[in-house]
Formats: sequence, C-alpha cells, structure tokens
Amino acid sequence: MAGFPSVGEDPGIILGKLAEFSRGEPEPISGRMFAHSYETGDPVLRELLRRAYELYMDKTMLNFVMYPSILRLEREVVRAVASLMDGDGGVTGNFTYGGTESIMLAVKASRDAFRASGKTGVPEIILPYTAHPAFLKAAVYLGLKPVFAPVDFDSGKVDVNAVNERVSGNTALIVGSAPNYPYGSVDDIKSLSDIALDSRVFLHVDACIGGFILPFLRDLGESVPDFTFKLEGVTSISVDLHKYGYALKGASIALFRSGDLRRYSIFMGTRWPGYPLVNTAILSTRSAGTLAASWAAINYLGYKGYLEMAGKVLKAKRKILAGLENLGLKIVGKPESSIVAFTGENVNVTLLSIEMAKKGWRLQVQPGSLYLNFPPTLHMTISPIHENLVEAFLKDLEETLKEHKPPAIGEALKHIVDIVEKEGYRRALEALGISRGSAISEESMLLVNELIRLMPPDIVEEALTEAVNTLI
Ligand SMILES: Cc1ncc(COP(=O)(O)O)c(C=O)c1O
Repeated sequence: MAGFPSVGEDPGIILGKLAEFSRGEPEPISGRMFAHSYETGDPVLRELLRRAYELYMDKTMLNFVMYPSILRLEREVVRAVASLMDGDGGVTGNFTYGGTESIMLAVKASRDAFRASGKTGVPEIILPYTAHPAFLKAAVYLGLKPVFAPVDFDSGKVDVNAVNERVSGNTALIVGSAPNYPYGSVDDIKSLSDIALDSRVFLHVDACIGGFILPFLRDLGESVPDFTFKLEGVTSISVDLHKYGYALKGASIALFRSGDLRRYSIFMGTRWPGYPLVNTAILSTRSAGTLAASWAAINYLGYKGYLEMAGKVLKAKRKILAGLENLGLKIVGKPESSIVAFTGENVNVTLLSIEMAKKGWRLQVQPGSLYLNFPPTLHMTISPIHENLVEAFLKDLEETLKEHKPPAIGEALKHIVDIVEKEGYRRALEALGISRGSAISEESMLLVNELIRLMPPDIVEEALTEAVNTLI
C-alpha cells in the first residue's frame, strides 16, 4: 500500500512534521496578508474560537435531535445575522460551511420557486461580471443559464440599465454584490431591488464580505448604500462569518426573506432504508465546531466589538488609499468597503506581488482579461490588524516600486503559447514546472497570470482544469 503508513507514529513527530511542512508559509496572524485573512489581532478571541471549536469539533450538525444545543446555536446565529441585515421576524436562514454553499442554496431556492410558480423555461440568473464565480458555479451545477451584465469600471458597479434590459420571462434571479470582491464596490442594490419588484423576480444580495463590515462602517459615518432586507425587492442575502464575522473558516449564513422561499433550499431523503436525511445545507455530516466558534465570536465581540474592529479597518483603509495615491498608483473601482484594488503605470502586478512577498507582504493578483476588458490589479482585503502595520507596508511598497521594472517575458510567453498550440496543455504545464508533487513557483506565476490575461476565458478555464488535475 504505497502512500499509506504501515504503522502509526508518535503524535509529537506528527505535529512536528505538520509544522515543518508549513514553515515559511504566510501566517494570517502576522497581519501581513491582504487576502484570505480577516485578522483581528486579538489573542483572546483567537483562543476563544479554538476552545469553542474544540467543544463541538466531533459533534455533527447532521443530527439536531441528538444535539439540541446545535439547533439552538444555529437559531441564535441566524437570528443575530438576520437582525444585522435588517430582517424582520419572517427572515429565516441556514448555517453553511461557506459563501459558496450559501450562494448555492439561494440559487437553488430561486430556481425551485421559479419552477413551482409554473414557469417551464430554462431559468436565468443575471450576473454582474464582478459577481463572485460561486454564482456561475451554482448556475452550472443547478442548470440555470447565466446572463452576464456589464460593469462600469470607474465605479466598479453593475450597470443597472443593462440588468433591466436583460430581465426576461425566464429570469429567476438577479444578483448584486455588497461589496464585490475584486474592487470592494457596492452595487446599486436599491435600483436592482426596484427592477426585481417591477419584474417580480428574486434578488440575491451577496454580502459574504460586507455583511459584518458595511453596517458598522455606516454607523461610523461612512456613506454606505442600502443593501439589506430594508429594500423590499431583496429576497435572499449571503453573509460569511468566516470573513468579517471573525469566526473560523467554514462558516456562513444564507438568509431568506421568508420561510416560503427558504423551504426550497431544504432537502429531504427518506427513500432508503437508513436514517431520514434532513438537510438544510448542501453538506450533510459536518463538524458543529465552526458553528460554535461563530456563536462565540458574535457573543464575544457584540455590536461594540464589531464597531471597534470596523473603526480599525477604516483607519487602515484611509492610510492605504492615501499612501497608494501618493505613490502614483491608481485605485480601480470605488473602494466603498474594506477592499482596495490598485494598478499602476509600468507596474507588473504579478512581479510586484512577488517582490512584496519577499518582504513578507501578501497582495493578491487579479490578472485581468484582455477579452473581457478587465485591467490587471492587486487586491487588498483590509483587516483590523492592519491598522498598526500600514506604515511599514507602505514604506516597503515605496522601496519596492523604486526598483520595480516590468519583466521581459515576451519570448518566454511566446514559447509557452507555441507549446500549447503544437503539443497541448500537458507539455506546456511541464514547461511551466507544474506537475504532480511539485510546488508552483511564484516566478512561473508571472507567465501563468499573463496567459490568463491574454487568452480567451474558455481556454483559460480548460488549461487551469488540466493544471489542477495534474497537480493533486
Ligand atoms: C463577495 C464574495 N462572495 C462569495 C464568496 C465565496 O465565499 P467562500 O470562499 O466562503 O465560498 C467570496 C469569497 O471570497 C466573496 O468575496
């Protein structure tokens, strides 16, 4: 049994190996990450999450008859998030393991409600180009037709007239983001809500990022457009606890305006000889640990704690925006929340991210697309912990930019494109150093990101599928 250990090992050795494997990788707790991390810097919260997780880690959310406390935790967390989203008593919801799962449930509910209303066409989902790809994934998995709507790149918001023009008798769902991930801009949800009401279609607001930060930024005096259930046309909202809820990874809420709509997100399976399968989420057996940690985070921070955290994010964001502008960099979209995206003349975003990584800072590359007219940008998700690190970051960025020269990769790029055309993806991936068992070098990402930017998205997706299939 190659690859399967023949005898067990000492726990100390096992833990030592895990620590060794991950040595040198970015640590969220360092505060030097500007993506995938929502770090408060509060050690008490961190320890609380760990202990809350531990208490529930081996209990499953599958059986809330056996574990009534799990049902209680879910109810209380859903209630808290519903109230943050201005939901009245009718708003209900489900705890899920992430934004993607919440989105899947909302899309499924709208599809099934569309069918239940007697409509027989292929249901359509209107997606701003800035909507998270989880919606496209949901459309593909659940058999909806995606209808894309253009975005205004000055504001970073979807063109609402274009959305209106795309509504048809087959529209099941319109999507808006509060905010979107690429630019941190909040779509004009009020106008989308009016369109949804006029045309009697569902409207999902993706507040996976914004749910736990926008209400607090608004209370701090920032101008935040309306995006919650206060707007009558909003029928579902996704809110991630594992983002600005500061809980552990694997925690999100799908909210529905009414139980009538939420009903369509629930699945029952009783036509087998086993236990009655009762699912309010896509996953079935799952640890209740992340739910317990979410409940703990909400009760530890409370309104005052979240407001304080949002204050730190806001201070950091203001310094970052001023700093980037000072360095002659250009902000893309309207940074209305806690995300900033930037680009610059003579800046190669991948190289700049590699250079900053050498100084310990992690910026996220958004390669852009020539075909879809998206500029390449660097993404920064701002966390409370950044408040005290921004000066050091900006100083390193300034020094890095002084030395920064866009790389001469034209020849190498041409070579890879030649290989793709003559010998196929597999050989091209080998040439890029992407193969099973190997780590992907940051330098090879210079070429990969440029290929992503230059090639048509359907080819990019095919090539990336091949790459992942090769890697794991
Ligand atoms: C706006 C938005 N929606 C949805 C998602 C998907 O969330 P998850 O990665 O938890 O599935 C993300 C993740 O970054 C996001 O930023």
